[in-house]
Amino acid sequence: MGDIVTMDDLTNQEIVAVLDDAERLVPVARGDVYLPLLQGKVLANMFFENSTRTRMSFETAMKRLGGSVLNFTSIGTSVAKGETLYDTMQMIDGYADVAAIRHPRQGAAQYSADAVEIPILNAGDGAGNHPTQTMLDLFTIRQAHGTLEGLNVVLVGDLRYGRTVHSLSHALVRFGAKLTLVSPSTLKMPVEIVSDLREHGSEIMETESLEDQIAGADVIYVTRIQKERFPDEDEYAKVAGIYKIEASDLSGAMKGMIIMHPLPRVDEIDPGVDSTEFARYFEQAFNGVPTRMALLCRSLGIDVPKKVK
Ligand code: CP
Repeated sequence: MGDIVTMDDLTNQEIVAVLDDAERLVPVARGDVYLPLLQGKVLANMFFENSTRTRMSFETAMKRLGGSVLNFTSIGTSVAKGETLYDTMQMIDGYADVAAIRHPRQGAAQYSADAVEIPILNAGDGAGNHPTQTMLDLFTIRQAHGTLEGLNVVLVGDLRYGRTVHSLSHALVRFGAKLTLVSPSTLKMPVEIVSDLREHGSEIMETESLEDQIAGADVIYVTRIQKERFPDEDEYAKVAGIYKIEASDLSGAMKGMIIMHPLPRVDEIDPGVDSTEFARYFEQAFNGVPTRMALLCRSLGIDVPKKVK
């Protein structure tokens, strides 16, 4: 019921309601207001794969709302002794009220959701989905443009293995976005995802060149080439560093255009871009806190007050 495994688990109306909740929770996320909505609740942060932002923003979200957190990683736990994901999740079902799970295997979040009673939030499953990232991405886009409707969004980089763009593209077309998919031919968005996007009636263009797409974009969403998912290091070497945005590339960009990145970045965005009016990736990372607060409340059936003070 409270699971969020893919963006299909939320209707458009629910997405907007969560974003509205998140907006009201910003002062709580910043620590300016104390609102212990989740006092007595326990979040299990189940990270079988590395993370900085997702794990820590879930933890901050839970703690700022008065709840507590169990942090789990593959290292230092009985996973090293061969314990299965199924058995591990059975323990968590008894120890926590809600779990965020990140796993290198696509489908692991759905598997976990099927295995336990507590709500499961997919914090990234292999090259599959990353719906809570999408929610903070949508929050950031709406904050900048005042709407999610009908934007021109350019997705750049590793569209094959990048789970953030899989979830985000799906959500954006549901709000009528026009998408331009920029990637090397070996890292194109999987065909089944492109078909799904087109089924929503959206205009989808695929290209290898970023340069021509900058001037018309409302949002440029840049992703890292996912080195860890390549079966062959030589294949990675062929595409490493293929896109690199520098401040001078943005002279023709529209006013109000934003550059986003789920982070971590390697070399896709030159640090010189950070001080331009276009850079939004650090605010985007902060937005993980109020957005995940709102998602935790939703999964635990707790209403966010209409006025937060
Ligand atoms: N955006 C994101 O998922 O970052 P982490 O891998 O650091 O959690």
